[in-house]
Amino acid sequence: MARPLVKTHIRGFDEDVLRGGIPQGHVVLVRGASGTMKSSLAYYVLYHNALEGAPGLYVTLEQTAAGLLEHIAGLGLKATAVSEALPILDLSRGREYLEEMVAKVGSMTETAAPRGEALLAVLKAKIFELRMRRNFRLLAIDSWDALELVLEFDDRRAETFGFFEWLRDLGVTSLLISEEPALEAPPTALEEEFLADGIIHLRLEPVTETAFQRRVQCVKMRSVNQDSDDHTLLFENGRFEVARAIG
Ligand SMILES: Nc1ncnc2c1ncn2[C@@H]1O[C@H](COP(=O)(O)OP(=O)(O)O)[C@@H](O)[C@H]1O
Ligand SMILES: [Mg+2]
Repeated sequence: MARPLVKTHIRGFDEDVLRGGIPQGHVVLVRGASGTMKSSLAYYVLYHNALEGAPGLYVTLEQTAAGLLEHIAGLGLKATAVSEALPILDLSRGREYLEEMVAKVGSMTETAAPRGEALLAVLKAKIFELRMRRNFRLLAIDSWDALELVLEFDDRRAETFGFFEWLRDLGVTSLLISEEPALEAPPTALEEEFLADGIIHLRLEPVTETAFQRRVQCVKMRSVNQDSDDHTLLFENGRFEVARAIG
């Protein structure tokens, strides 16, 4: 049986590109350089799902919850309409916050796990607790890169694999925001691309010497025969929309 599909609510993207939506339970990377509207788009997807009754959780590490809310207001989205259905977990003080939690939990347990591992354990416990309490269906992590820095993975591939599996078992659909790796980045920077179920790539494309156009491309979506073409991405009056790019 086919999995239920999660709509992104980006006009033209669900129907024409994803053939319906993101298969529920997928771990999807939203990848792009700074300023390509990764955070905006991820919040937008969770926002519209929350409005339709599917709760979400937005984990922010790169900016504070207040900073994110200000940006969202600037986009014309009313976060107050979904404050119950789409809470923001502010880990912008990521390491400190998790360390405080480790200290609290640590005083109750005997074992001293290596730091990264202990941080990962409290983060998972926190997300799991919210999953039980709020029954959220969509999760955004902004960003995966920032989280990785906090968690200090030793074996990047194995730990990324383990975390993605944990997300799938949690039964949520995940959007992981991810910076564009530098051109000279080692191939290990691409491991999550193999491990993710989907990749949505955002870009600013020069169209003349001075003008840029936003572009979106669904590079990968497991179990979907997606349209991998480049599309222009428009954001107007609080709505994202895609149109076929004219090369
Ligand atoms: N009201 C708006 N309409 C269209 N674009 C906007 C609006 N407000 C901000 N932006 C764009 O959003 C960009 C930042 O989006 P953001 O989601 O934070 O990007 P990223 O997470 O990829 O760094 C800004 O560079 C700006 O171009
Ligand atoms: Mg961002």
